[in-house]
Amino acid sequence: MKKLIVSVMFALSATLLTTTAIANTDTVALEHANVDISNKASLQRGVKYYANYCMGCHSLAYSRYNRIATDLDLTNEQVVKNLIFTRNADGEPENPGALMKNAMSPKHSAEWFGAPPPDLTLEARVRSPDWIYSYLKAFYLDPTRPMGVNNTVFPNVGMPHVLWELQGLQEKHCTKEGEGAHAVEHCEMKVVKQGSMTPMEYDQMARDITNFLAYVGEPAQNTRKGYGIAVLLFLSLFAVVAYFLKKEYWKDVH
Ligand code: HEC
Repeated sequence: MKKLIVSVMFALSATLLTTTAIANTDTVALEHANVDISNKASLQRGVKYYANYCMGCHSLAYSRYNRIATDLDLTNEQVVKNLIFTRNADGEPENPGALMKNAMSPKHSAEWFGAPPPDLTLEARVRSPDWIYSYLKAFYLDPTRPMGVNNTVFPNVGMPHVLWELQGLQEKHCTKEGEGAHAVEHCEMKVVKQGSMTPMEYDQMARDITNFLAYVGEPAQNTRKGYGIAVLLFLSLFAVVAYFLKKEYWKDVH
């Protein structure tokens, strides 16, 4: 038994150590996305942007159109008109109850971009909302890359900067201070071409898309938190009742 406990503890600490090691490899400072998945207007804008700019490459294959319609107060007609671009075998728009797949073939896209665009249903849970938000802001011009851009949060990413017309284009300029192993590199982004949005508008857009992905990763979050509070309230009220019940039962025993 002792041996078993020791080996379980050893396995646990080894897992902890490796996860910390993985987390530590992430050296870029991330910006705070400040997402709020109870903000429906932001989620509605997020899903619209996602449908227009991301869905062509990234499916949300673990989510259904009608679930999003219900949660975001959209009608089925709005969903069919604005979100569903894929057609079923009869050439009709996909049923709103369908999973949000897209028509991109993983084999071809891997050839085009070097890596297939992954499904993003669980992206906010895998990477965190702050990561996605920072990533959407971190594209910079790099002529050595096949798409002409690179990304400070995801170096050598295969994705083109699909929002460049809105954000504009930026260059990364780095200066080195110090010598050898002690050299510290400071980098900053310089805008070289203005986009159609102001930086504040673009931040808001990146936040809305991130917010939508944070919601889609766990659509029941809002209700889950509500249940949690209700359960805690019930338990604390019940504790009082249980206390008096206990007093009543033990009254005659003492
Ligand atoms: C033209 C196709 C294309 C479009 C459109 C596109 N992406 Fe991508 N995206 C890619 C590819 C390809 C990769 C994988 C890159 C790699 O692994 O090198 C990627 C990777 C990503 C990743 C990182 C995934 C990971 O590995 O964790 C995120 C996040 C992401 N995209 C978000 C978005 C968002 C948000 C949009 C819409 C604003 C979008 N993408 C639009 C092609 C696209």
